[in-house]
Amino acid sequence: MPKEYFVSLHDHKSPPTYRFFNGEKWAESLTGKTIDVISPLDNHILGKIQLVSHSEIDQAIERAHQAQLLWRDIPMIKRAQILHLASDWIRHHEHYLTTILIKEIGKTLAEAKDEILRSADMVDYFANEGLHIKGEELSGEAFPGYDQTKMAIIERVSLGVILAIAPFNYPVNLSVSKIAPALIMGNSVVFKPPTQGAISSLHLTEIFRLAGVPDGVIVTVTGGGSDIGDYLCTHSGIDMVTFTGSSQVGKSIAEKIGMIPILFECGGNNPAIVLPDADMHSTAVEIVKGAFSYSGQRCTAIKYVLGLSPTIDKLLPIVVKKTKELIKMGDPRSEGYNLGPVISNAAAEEIEKRILMAKAAGAKIVYGGEQKERYIEPTILEGVKPSMEILRIETFGPVVSFIKVKSIDEAVKIINGSNYGLQASVFTSDEGAGIKLAQQIDVGTVQINSKPQRGPDHFPFLGIKGSGIGVQGIHYTLEAMTRFKPIVLNKPQ
Ligand code: G3H
Repeated sequence: MPKEYFVSLHDHKSPPTYRFFNGEKWAESLTGKTIDVISPLDNHILGKIQLVSHSEIDQAIERAHQAQLLWRDIPMIKRAQILHLASDWIRHHEHYLTTILIKEIGKTLAEAKDEILRSADMVDYFANEGLHIKGEELSGEAFPGYDQTKMAIIERVSLGVILAIAPFNYPVNLSVSKIAPALIMGNSVVFKPPTQGAISSLHLTEIFRLAGVPDGVIVTVTGGGSDIGDYLCTHSGIDMVTFTGSSQVGKSIAEKIGMIPILFECGGNNPAIVLPDADMHSTAVEIVKGAFSYSGQRCTAIKYVLGLSPTIDKLLPIVVKKTKELIKMGDPRSEGYNLGPVISNAAAEEIEKRILMAKAAGAKIVYGGEQKERYIEPTILEGVKPSMEILRIETFGPVVSFIKVKSIDEAVKIINGSNYGLQASVFTSDEGAGIKLAQQIDVGTVQINSKPQRGPDHFPFLGIKGSGIGVQGIHYTLEAMTRFKPIVLNKPQ
């Protein structure tokens, strides 16, 4: 039924070929080249997306630029109304979008539904909060040497054309978290969806259009990151880049991009420290959920657990028991399964390779460890060293490693020595001790007695070191997508 709204997106072949939105219409690329979108569930081709050319990108960015000049002058309340309508559309099509998401990226029904509804809530929140982002007013007299003749009216203005690059693991939510704040603050958006996730992202583009976002204010260009990523990021028509993806890609973009603002959310590789006084049962449940939800393909997943030897000896058997009880691996379309496949055969092979390398280097597989095509058993390793590849680089799969340390100081040293710094968890029954420890850990956010997570979405969300640049979270993202524009009044003496 909802399909009737989305007929312009693709042709009627099987599998369908999707078009890209060039700012004027849904179009086929003149390259004549397409890329297959393959379902991780059964490896069948769900559809094909356009590989757009550089000149099509040039034209789309020029349209985005021209459209932004008009969009920024539309009153914010009107822009907010359009966004509220978009969130209504997202909610209205929740079932349809959820179904696409399950097939396209292999989420479970609960995970996919949550992503869609969270996205609708996020759009509303951005629209409401945008109305409260304001500039300020300063008088010159507050600084020595100036008298009352200067006054600055400091406006917050849009940046221009924002390039939004979204990852496969949240193709709707981590697109909305970029597109909605950009739009409400008067920017236009050049949207580059992930290849797996592109079909949901193209639907999202159409939803924004149907809600009333004018032509050109959003343009959506598709193609592989290696085909069009560098061209987009270094394009002179782009005024800001907001990106979610791996630390390796983030670093490479940051090196090329030049002097424009960036907002990057990159790899996590998040640790948990378990203190001896922690409640072992609730800690184990948080570790299991933190490590294995969406098959460990979240930048906020728990990747390793540190504790003193007696703590790990107590905790590890409980984590294994809870994993057996709570995690059921299988096709997420069938009821009862909550651990689906990882995104591709190549990803699964890489994860399995790292597990086997860790084993060969002395780590012990305590649970799981087997790979069958894109399915990786929930895997628990012990005796892992931070230098092993499974831990040195973020492993985007359902694997968690346990490390025994001689002291909590050693645990902090391991975390602070890592190239990542998104989040960390501390488990303890003494909140004071938890806060004290949190203050020593060099990451964006420390969670006490919970797994790492981005939400609630109005909290600041940031990574340090290889985990990101800039601060997201409703209010913070809105500010990041504007700049100050002081206008100084000089009164005659
Ligand atoms: O993968 C990165 C996401 O920002 C993680 O979000 O903690 O809500 O799963 P989440």
